[in-house]
Amino acid sequence: MRIIVKTMQGLEEVLAEELKDLGGKDIQILRRAVSCDGDYELVYKINYLSRVAIRVLIPIVKFYARNEKDFYYRAMDYKWVQHLSSSNTFAISSTVNSSYFTHSHYVALKLKDAICDHFRKKMGRRPSIDTEQPDLKFDLQISGDNVNISIDSTGDSLHQRGYRIQGHQAPLNEVLAAGMVLLSGWNKKSPFVDFMCGSGTLPLEASMIANNIPAGIRRTNYAFKHWPNFDNGLWRRIQKEAKSKIIENDIQIMANDIDPEAKEIARQTFLSFNFARNIELSNVDFKELEGIPEGSTIVINPPYGERIGEEDDMDLLYQEIGDYLKQNCKGSTAWIISSNFEAMKKIGLKASKKLVLFNGPLECKFHRIDLF
Ligand SMILES: C[S@@+](CC[C@H](N)C(=O)[O-])C[C@H]1O[C@@H](n2cnc3c(N)ncnc32)[C@H](O)[C@@H]1O
Repeated sequence: MRIIVKTMQGLEEVLAEELKDLGGKDIQILRRAVSCDGDYELVYKINYLSRVAIRVLIPIVKFYARNEKDFYYRAMDYKWVQHLSSSNTFAISSTVNSSYFTHSHYVALKLKDAICDHFRKKMGRRPSIDTEQPDLKFDLQISGDNVNISIDSTGDSLHQRGYRIQGHQAPLNEVLAAGMVLLSGWNKKSPFVDFMCGSGTLPLEASMIANNIPAGIRRTNYAFKHWPNFDNGLWRRIQKEAKSKIIENDIQIMANDIDPEAKEIARQTFLSFNFARNIELSNVDFKELEGIPEGSTIVINPPYGERIGEEDDMDLLYQEIGDYLKQNCKGSTAWIISSNFEAMKKIGLKASKKLVLFNGPLECKFHRIDLF
C-alpha cells in the first residue's frame, strides 16, 4: 500500500530518514511530503513516532476533472463500499488549488453527495456525516484538474502532541521545532542550549529526541483509532515497544528566557514530563547567562520584530546575540531561525549554511554559525 506523509517545507529529507528507520520502502521525496510503501503497522508507527510528520494519508483514488459535473460523476463511480458501510460515519477535509474549482468547502460537499448517492444507488441506505469523531476521514486535494482522494489516518495535525500549555504568544510549531533540532545535526551527547526558549518547545523536543520519547506519547486521538478495521492489539504492541526504548540520560539541556511568564509556562510543561528533568531552566537576559559549555549545540528562535517600529530594537537585539555568541560560545555551533533578514546581518558572523523553513506563513532562514 502507498502511504503519503505530509510535512513542512524544508523537512522532507528529515522525514524521509525517519520513514526509512521506521521501515518504509521505495521512499520518494515530494513537495512538503514524502511517500513510501508500507502496511497498517507502518501507518500507526509514523503517526506515533515521527517527529516531523504532520499527517499520514493513504491515497485511494485519483482522477482528472475540470468541472463539478465531471467531478461528481467520477467520484460517484468509485467503489466506496471497499472502505465504508452504510452504518459508518465519515467526514471530508479539502484543500483546493485550482482555477477550475475555487471553493474547497463546496467541492467537499459535492464529494459528500457523490459518496452518499453511490451508497443510495447500491444499497438504498447511506452513511452519515460526523465531523467530530467520524469512522473514516477522507482528505480531498485538488491541484489544477488533478483530484486526489485519500483516507486520513491522523485527524488533528500531528504537531498537536498533547503537551502544550496555552499562554505564550509565539510558540514554535512542535513539528518545526523537532525538525530544527534534527536539521542541526545535534549528536544527542553534547549540551543543547536555547537561551530564548519562550514556552520551551525547542528544549522539550530536544529532550524527547535524546530520550527516545515517542512524539505522540501524550496524544490520545488519531483518526485510525476510529476505523472499522482498527487493530487495537497491534496499536498497543507498537506503543509498548516504543516505550521500552525510552532511555533516561543526563545530557545537559539549558533553557532560558527573559520573560517570567514564558519561563513559568516552560517550567510547568517540563514539570509535567518525567524525562524533561534534565532541562535546566533560567530566567535572565541572555547577556547575563554564564557557563555555556564548549561544544554545545545552540538553537534559538529570537523575535523577528514583525510589528512596525520594532526595526531598530531588532537590529540592536541581533547585534547583541552576535556579540554574545562571539564572546561566550566559542567552540560551539549556533543555529538561528529568523524571517528578519536585515536584522540577521547585524549578527556579524558568517553563516556556513542557510536552510529555508517556514514559521507559519513567514519565510525564514535557519542559519548555521560555527563559533571557532
Ligand atoms: C519567538 S519567541 C521564542 C518562542 C519559543 N521558541 C517557543 O517555542 O515558545 C522569542 C523569545 O525571546 C525572548 N527574549 C527576547 N529578548 C530576550 C533576551 N534579551 N534574553 C532572553 N530572552 C529574550 C522572548 O521573551 C521570547 O519568549
